[in-house]
Amino acid sequence: MTSVERAGDPHVSPRWHVRPMRLVDLPDITPIESRIFAAPWTHGNFADSLAAGYDGWVFSDPASARSILGYALLMWTPDEVHLLNLSVNDQVQGLGLGAQFMQWIINNLTYRGAGAILLEVRPSNMAALRLYERMGFHRIGLRRGYYPPQDGVREDAIVMVRRLEASEAPTR
Ligand SMILES: CC(C)(COP(=O)(O)OP(=O)(O)OC[C@H]1O[C@@H](n2cnc3c(N)ncnc32)[C@H](O)[C@@H]1OP(=O)(O)O)[C@@H](O)C(=O)NCCC(=O)NCCS
Repeated sequence: MTSVERAGDPHVSPRWHVRPMRLVDLPDITPIESRIFAAPWTHGNFADSLAAGYDGWVFSDPASARSILGYALLMWTPDEVHLLNLSVNDQVQGLGLGAQFMQWIINNLTYRGAGAILLEVRPSNMAALRLYERMGFHRIGLRRGYYPPQDGVREDAIVMVRRLEASEAPTR
C-alpha cells in the first residue's frame, strides 16, 4: 500500500504525487519557503511541527520525488483542523496546483472525519484569498496585528473556515 492510498484519497492527479512530509524533505522545502514568504518557517519550525505529530504533506513531480511542487502542514484540534501552511513552489504558481492541492486536502480531511478547516491569511495575499474563497472558505474574523512586523508594521490576519460534510467524502 502506498502512502497515498494510506492517506485515504484515491483522487490523485497523474501530474503530481502526494506523500507524508519527512525530515529528509526539509532541505528541499526550506529554500522554497524562503523564496515565497517574507517571514519563512525555519528548518526547526518544520521539524518541531513534524515531531509534534502535525500532518505534513509533500506534493511532488511524479518523475522526481525530490522535485517539490508544494507542501502543507496541518494541526488537528478537537474542533477542527488548522491549516498552518499551504505553499506552491514559486516556479509553478498560478497554474492551478494550489487549487488541486487544497481539493486533495479537503477530500483527505473529510474522508478522515474532520468537521472543518480553519486558517489565517494576510489581507494582502490576493492569490491565497481568491483560492480559499473559491474552495468554499468563509471569513469568520480578524486577528489584529497577527503577523510578525515587517518594516515595523504588523499585518492583520483574516480568519477563514471551511466546513466539511461527511457526504463530500470521496468514495472508493
Ligand atoms: C497562494 C498559493 C498557495 C496559490 O497557489 P497557486 O497554485 O499559485 O494558485 P492557483 O493557480 O491554484 O490559483 C488559485 C487562485 O488564485 C489566483 N491567483 C493565482 N496567483 C495570483 C496572483 N499572483 N494574484 C492574484 N490572484 C492570483 C488564481 O487566479 C486563482 O483564482 P481564480 O480561480 O479565481 O482564477 C500560492 O500562490 C503560494 O504558495 N503562495 C505563496 C505562499 C502562500 O501565500 N501561501 C498561503 C498562505 S495563507
